[in-house]
Amino acid sequence: MITTTTDSASTPLDRLSDRLAGDMEQVNILIRNRMASRHAPRIPEVTAHLVEAGGKRLRPMLTLAAARLLSYPGQDHVKLAATVEFIHTATLLHDDVVDESRQRRGRPTANLLWDNKSSVLVGDYLFARSFQLMVETGSLRVLDILANASATIAEGEVLQLTAAQDLRTDEAIYLQVVRGKTAALFSAATEVGGVIAGAPEDQVRALYDYGDALGIAFQIVDDLLDYGGVSATIGKNTGDDFRERKLTLPVIKAVTRADAEERAFWVRTIEAGDQRDGDLDRALAIMARHGAMEAARADALGWVAKARAALSLLPENEIRVLLDDLADFVVARVA
Ligand code: IPE
Ligand code: IPE
Ligand code: MG
Ligand code: MG
Repeated sequence: MITTTTDSASTPLDRLSDRLAGDMEQVNILIRNRMASRHAPRIPEVTAHLVEAGGKRLRPMLTLAAARLLSYPGQDHVKLAATVEFIHTATLLHDDVVDESRQRRGRPTANLLWDNKSSVLVGDYLFARSFQLMVETGSLRVLDILANASATIAEGEVLQLTAAQDLRTDEAIYLQVVRGKTAALFSAATEVGGVIAGAPEDQVRALYDYGDALGIAFQIVDDLLDYGGVSATIGKNTGDDFRERKLTLPVIKAVTRADAEERAFWVRTIEAGDQRDGDLDRALAIMARHGAMEAARADALGWVAKARAALSLLPENEIRVLLDDLADFVVARVA
């Protein structure tokens, strides 16, 4: 079917946004209403700073899309989408403290503009608000999924903390980190959309699988953009992962293929944390020499294929086509 929203200049994310614009408007209204606090003025200051900067709204879009794909007639998907974005925003506030990041969504981070204390506490507030919102749906199953996802995200971030600076971190550990810190919220976002719509179990499972694989591909690409992206486009500083001595997928691949001299470089910069001018460029050159970025991108494409395969169990309609295109887009994206 031809729709007016499929002009060739738009990305799959734009097309999904257009298709779900009415629902997303409701989500944004709900987010604005619930992110404020009458008792602590610092809360609306910090939340407005981050929320008004936008963000792709990818995760709430997944919840809306999953519910609509299954012809859900109610309104609780809006609450769940807002819940998911609140959880995401809370983790971003905490993550930027942990990563000592200075730029997010094209703006200085809250930890830079205010301080770490404000970011941690406002992040906690948003987490709590997210739980209030999901309780309003009255679905214990949804609570179970989102509570589990929240615990898994925290586990992923903590696992990453101990895996950083350790050159023994391999692809299996990386996958565990990424599944936890990122894919858990993607899969919960799609799964709760299916659950609220009352979908049969095989379809709920397919939605989970789609979100899981999409989230993994998304984070691999995010890690590539940290080295090869343009800061003004991604709205974050590049080179943060190297500075933080994180073993992301392209680095793991380069470390695996390193000769003795390269290994000494990784030991000095990542393990010992002795980083000097020009080291980031050297890291990029070593990764290029081993085709590490291309190899990581190929892995991301493998996850995209898994995500798309999961969709085959779901009803064939316009939204399924958009989710199919979205899977390609998460690897093609530059922001
Ligand atoms: C950033 O996610 C955190 C990661 C998992 C990489 P997004 O890139 O979706 O962030 P926003 O919401 O669009 O800013
Ligand atoms: C983001 O991880 C995951 C969470 C926020 C839980 P990263 O630290 O890799 O993402 P960015 O680059 O800061 O967005
Ligand atoms: Mg970070
Ligand atoms: Mg991080």
